[in-house]
Amino acid sequence: MKRAFTLTAATLSLAVLTGTAFADGHIDHAIKARQSQMNLYAFNLGALGAMAKGQVEYDAEAATKAATNLVTLMSLDQSMYWPQGSDSGSAKSNTKADMWANFPDVMAKGKATYEAAVAMQTAAGTDLEALRGAMGALGGACTACHKAYREPMN
Ligand code: HEC
Repeated sequence: MKRAFTLTAATLSLAVLTGTAFADGHIDHAIKARQSQMNLYAFNLGALGAMAKGQVEYDAEAATKAATNLVTLMSLDQSMYWPQGSDSGSAKSNTKADMWANFPDVMAKGKATYEAAVAMQTAAGTDLEALRGAMGALGGACTACHKAYREPMN
């Protein structure tokens, strides 16, 4: 938690140094960045989900690519995407303000998702049955965080 907030403070001072254009939109840019990250998760998870459901034919190479993308995306440092004051109460965001008060739990939920993605990376290239077996933990890890920290979305 401390580390993330320190990084956030560094980002804010950087925004001041680089001029008002960036500083003014800092919160909006950060929200867009994290929503973009989430949409990249959804695209790659969707590719795996379509195979799991039999909507798309199982393809070990494509499945491995999607799972590897997830692991790579989850390895990015996201701390600058979540500045304080960017919650749904004060910004165009679906993040509950609670998220900032529960940082250790947020980190744990993020780690669980990462571990499920790593497990998927092996399963995805094995066979369809293994992919299906890894899907529940991965999808469930996304949902666990959304239930706790995301406003209900239509
Ligand atoms: C550690 C918590 C956490 C995890 C893990 C997580 N999400 Fe999210 N997700 C959020 C929060 C919070 C938001 C709301 C972001 C905002 O609007 O500020 C969100 C938003 C989204 C959105 C909407 C983006 C938009 O355009 O508004 C999608 C899609 C999404 N997540 C997909 C996923 C998928 C797929 C996974 C798993 C592979 C995942 N998320 C894992 C917390 C999480």
